[in-house]
Amino acid sequence: MYDRGKIIAGLVVFAGLTTLPFWYNIGKARVRPDPRLDTPAIRQMKEKHCIESKRFMIEYHMQMLNGWRNAVVRDYKTTYVSTSGQYFTMSLEDTCFHCHSNEKQFCNQCHSYADVKPYCWECHVKPGEEIAHGQR
Ligand code: HEC
Ligand code: HEC
Ligand code: HEC
Repeated sequence: MYDRGKIIAGLVVFAGLTTLPFWYNIGKARVRPDPRLDTPAIRQMKEKHCIESKRFMIEYHMQMLNGWRNAVVRDYKTTYVSTSGQYFTMSLEDTCFHCHSNEKQFCNQCHSYADVKPYCWECHVKPGEEIAHGQR
């Protein structure tokens, strides 16, 4: 017959091993991301709303940026009309960073947590770097 004690002990060891990566991550500097919205432009907004819904932005901002880039670079379009009928200039610098001028406390909060490093900044300017680079 089965030896219940051994089976349970085996299960406990198995569970310990399969959740090892989880335990290993505890105590590492992986603080939950906390993207900050307190920028001058956002403070002035009556209704604190992004271009699309928050859910949409969280899940699809990368696709949105890709779409914008293609529209601007390939089709010479410059205006995005949101679901709610608002107009936005399709620009990383002039639009996203106008409101989210705190890249470190906003974009980077999530990106370092998710370990993504968008390569956009090889060419595009981050907020606060215009003067340092002397580009404008
Ligand atoms: C007009 C100001 C404005 C512009 C322009 C803007 N945002 Fe936002 N964004 C906001 C506000 C305000 C919120 C918070 C929305 C909420 O809580 O419902 C937000 C939320 C977000 C979120 C979700 C953050 C979270 O807390 O989870 C992401 C991601 C985001 N924006 C990315 C972008 C990107 C990328 C662009 C450019 C394509 C952009 N935003 C342009 C004002 C703006
Ligand atoms: C709520 C968290 C959150 C915020 C805030 C946020 N991002 Fe992201 N971003 C992510 C995640 C997660 C990914 C990776 C998604 C994936 O791989 O599917 C990502 C991916 C991207 C990518 C694609 C990178 C690649 O290599 O594929 C770009 C570009 C990007 N984000 C730009 C921005 C910009 C610009 C801002 C600030 C205006 C911003 N994000 C704010 C969570 C966030
Ligand atoms: C090799 C250089 C380079 C890299 C890397 C790059 N871009 Fe661009 N991007 C450009 C150039 C050049 C334009 C055209 C500028 C114009 O027409 O005003 C452009 C235009 C854009 C535009 C529309 C106009 C604007 O000023 O924002 C968006 C949006 C954009 N890129 C997003 C991105 C994103 C997101 C990434 C990273 C995932 C990225 N780009 C990486 C060079 C680059």
